Amino acid sequence: ETVTWEADAAEKGGYEHYMRKEIHEQPEALRQTLAGRLDVDAGNVDLDVSFPPGFLADLEEIRIVACGTSYYAGRYAAQLFEELAGVRASVEIASEYEFGAGRTPDRTLVVAVTQSGETADTLGAIRRAKDAGARTFAVTNTLGSTVTREVDGTAFIRAGPEIGVAATKTFASQVATLAMLAVAVGRDRGALAASDARSVLEDLQGLPGAVQQVLDEEPQVREAAQAYQDSEAFFFVGRALGVPVALEGALKLKEISYDHAEGFAAGELKHGPLALVTPDTPVLAVLTDRSRGRETMNNVTEAQTRGAPALGCVSEDTEYDTLDVSFDVPDVGTVEPLVANVYLQLFAYHVANEKGRSIDKPRNLAKSVTVE
Ligand code: AGP
Repeated sequence: ETVTWEADAAEKGGYEHYMRKEIHEQPEALRQTLAGRLDVDAGNVDLDVSFPPGFLADLEEIRIVACGTSYYAGRYAAQLFEELAGVRASVEIASEYEFGAGRTPDRTLVVAVTQSGETADTLGAIRRAKDAGARTFAVTNTLGSTVTREVDGTAFIRAGPEIGVAATKTFASQVATLAMLAVAVGRDRGALAASDARSVLEDLQGLPGAVQQVLDEEPQVREAAQAYQDSEAFFFVGRALGVPVALEGALKLKEISYDHAEGFAAGELKHGPLALVTPDTPVLAVLTDRSRGRETMNNVTEAQTRGAPALGCVSEDTEYDTLDVSFDVPDVGTVEPLVANVYLQLFAYHVANEKGRSIDKPRNLAKSVTVE
């Protein structure tokens, strides 16, 4: 018994839970994700992937298929593909995906985003895409995983092993990898100027340091978690790139704390969810520039008027005086909402930890879901 405990503690590198260890590994995981892949001066990316000649130039659509946290990484990426690669991009929950009528298989790229590479729903979606004749691609953490054997090309996220059931560092590395892919596709298609690519690559380069700055604020997040842990429910909101982060923040909290948490596009609050808002339902908002912070703040104010406490992840150079808690997010442009997400990971962790939950193995859940 004692020996097991010691081995376990050693593996966790002194952390009480793998999840907290993996949250703190993010700067290093991101460095690995980016290592040797960026040519910032030239505004180019080398992901070591190739497509048939002319395929990217003729591309009509990118469809991302994924589940859970990987699906939210896909929602972040779809916005980047449209913006940087100038191609229509959508993301679908893998278990709901069908190729659909009126689409052109030979001009479609279907991208599976899956940490494990073994998720049955995602593999099923890839098989349906292949049956329809589409070209397929995987973004995964796992060498030799099933998905890599089924697709036409793969980009590895290189986050290192993730043991906690809650996906943390792999989300960050997935988004970073997909952002590089969006730049690569955009450059290949001639849709992205070198100078615009350079600025995105500089944002990516700044990512590990920015995440470290957030990790250094952990005591502030822990304090907030202690203050609000007994709330009836938690709502997460954002706009644009802040929407997938809000959804991911809510998933993380519900998964490990068992508290009721929901994420919304901030503008939707007034179309229904506002009826749920009370002084006992804190609102956590992604208020960075790239998540349309000012407009989101207007919606947060509507919730505050109904008594809800408001916690915000705010761009460094901005201040919203009315927030109950304000977390500073370093300015890293395109990936700023991704950095804000680290605050939400820490918040979920500390709420769950205060409650003594089984953080690394939440009830009813498995790390890799191999049934459809
Ligand atoms: C995330 O915290 C979850 N454990 C879960 O949603 C997970 O992201 C999902 O099952 C997808 O897994 P995959 O990335 O291995 O395909």
